[in-house]
Amino acid sequence: MKIATSILSAKSFKEKLGVIEKLNSSDTDYIHFDVMDGKFVSNKSLCIPELVKLIKASTKKNEVHLMVENPMKYIEQIKNLNVDRIIVHVEINQALNKIIDYIKSNNINVGLAIDLNTNIDYVKPYLKKIDLLLIMSVKAGKGGQQFQTQVLDKIKKIPDNIKLEFDGGINDETVKFIKFADTAVSGTYILENIEENIRKLKR
Ligand code: DX5
Ligand code: ZN
Repeated sequence: MKIATSILSAKSFKEKLGVIEKLNSSDTDYIHFDVMDGKFVSNKSLCIPELVKLIKASTKKNEVHLMVENPMKYIEQIKNLNVDRIIVHVEINQALNKIIDYIKSNNINVGLAIDLNTNIDYVKPYLKKIDLLLIMSVKAGKGGQQFQTQVLDKIKKIPDNIKLEFDGGINDETVKFIKFADTAVSGTYILENIEENIRKLKR
């Protein structure tokens, strides 16, 4: 399983930079950037200039998780950076097909995210065109929450060939529930002890 490390729980910009430096020389497969606009979710994290600077500081593969109402303006500013995957939410009230096609036209992989309490049927129309489905295992909007095992039921309706990523509440205990996943996102747990906890998650 691949590991994507979320830097959300590092408080300040400076702290986030420090964490990225450590992650650059770690075994994490991705750095996971959580962007929140205070509208799609009530919290805010990373304005565009900060996001750009942090991506530029990373030498790892990067994935950007957009918990925002209007993803286009973010995509526009990061499409020429070292971004392997952009993840947008199925719940946004916007022309998702257009956004997915636009990300792809920039040769960036597309992830589609579904929040904890959203019915899985909503992702069905997009499964054929996305590269990965991100299942929120907590309610989107903040780090440090507990993994919700009920999401495991939800994915029974997803065909086996779809790559899955889980995000939220993942530690050395809860990772056991998602052994079949392509990628696990973990923030709070990994940042407690970067080297050791990435190793434990990969075991
Ligand atoms: C939550 C974010 C997650 C989260 C992961 O809205 O999408 O990426 O920060 O962090 P932990 O591991 O603290 O749940
Ligand atoms: Zn995330």
